[in-house]
Amino acid sequence: MGIQQNGNHLTDEITIVNVKPKTIPNCSHLPPLVSALKASAERNTVAFHFPGHKRGEAAPSSLTGLIGTKPFLHDVTEIPELDRFFCPKGPLLEAKKLAAELFGAKETWFLVGGTSCGVQAAVMATCSPGDTIILPRNAHISATTGVIFSGAIPKYIIPEHNADWDVALGVTPAQESLIVDEAHGAHFKFHLEMPKTALDQGADISIQSTHKVLSSFSQSSMLHISGDMIDRERLQKCLHSLQSTSPSWLLLASLDAARHQLSTSPNTIFNEAVKLAKEAKILISKIPGISVLDLSASPDFPGMDPLRITVGVWRLGLSGFQANEILDNKLGIIPELVGTNSVTLAFSLGTTREHVSRLVSGLKYLSTTFPVRKCEKEKIFVAENAPCTVILS
Ligand SMILES: Cc1ncc(COP(=O)(O)O)c(C=O)c1O
Repeated sequence: MGIQQNGNHLTDEITIVNVKPKTIPNCSHLPPLVSALKASAERNTVAFHFPGHKRGEAAPSSLTGLIGTKPFLHDVTEIPELDRFFCPKGPLLEAKKLAAELFGAKETWFLVGGTSCGVQAAVMATCSPGDTIILPRNAHISATTGVIFSGAIPKYIIPEHNADWDVALGVTPAQESLIVDEAHGAHFKFHLEMPKTALDQGADISIQSTHKVLSSFSQSSMLHISGDMIDRERLQKCLHSLQSTSPSWLLLASLDAARHQLSTSPNTIFNEAVKLAKEAKILISKIPGISVLDLSASPDFPGMDPLRITVGVWRLGLSGFQANEILDNKLGIIPELVGTNSVTLAFSLGTTREHVSRLVSGLKYLSTTFPVRKCEKEKIFVAENAPCTVILS
């Protein structure tokens, strides 16, 4: 029922608009959260709820000119037909269960604050004030803030360090509750040549940035638990206290969609990306003055992600930062990570043959522009001490 609009004036004539029922139509070909979003948008409801852009009615034109109005149409937060973020009973619960099944977890949570909030919650859920937590000295900042929030006392393990590359290597885990920040490993379960997943190696909690190598929207991550060590109610409370109470359902649906994308062919989906990365490694390692990081960098390396290529540039007399400057500013090739002596390139399902060809050409350009130095070990930066040792001393 509503008050009719007559030109610019509201009249008191009564109008009733029939909307579609809330029940979710059977879109079995779509993942549950995507299906719920679609059904919700098709209901022709009047939004007297937030967000204030009202499904795109007031979307800023500067942005709709770029991305259209559809992202706004689906940018909704908790409304009844979409489920509750913190106590799901409908499509979100179904999506979480499907994700747990695919990733081999006892239970999975969808996160909208990235892996950062998942790591913080995992530390808070497992450590009380005064407890000891053992963590690598180069842990991500979210682990440090988790320690601060929980009141735990950190004991640090110094990771191995390779001075030639100036990169930190692995640590040997101690056994208690094992939390693994697997931000960069959400894809490990989906190819035989990937390292084993944290859960498969006995982790109690693993937090993965689905938005990094997989294809969900930025900020969206998953937290998985396994075994019986974790108090799930406490973890649930910690996640509640750290995350927004207005999560965008677009982010959540993108997690469900990324899971669905993998589940259609989990054993083969990464074949092409791995093949491209291997071809790229072979071509890059033949470029004069360029080195490619491999298992020989550490005798203890248990494995390497085949979709990561770390390229050393010191033999060209360049630092990683200088190489990045040229690759990015001049050639439009943007690495994922820049180090003192190297740059790291991330491959994924979205990497194409054309991307690889531009990358290889770009590195050849560096090699021809900066002839190889005579002294192989001459570097812009010489790591006399591992950075973590310096922090501790
Ligand atoms: C090792 C590691 N852990 C955690 C994070 C945080 O992940 P997110 O960006 O999903 O919050 C990152 C981000 O780059 C990371 O590199």
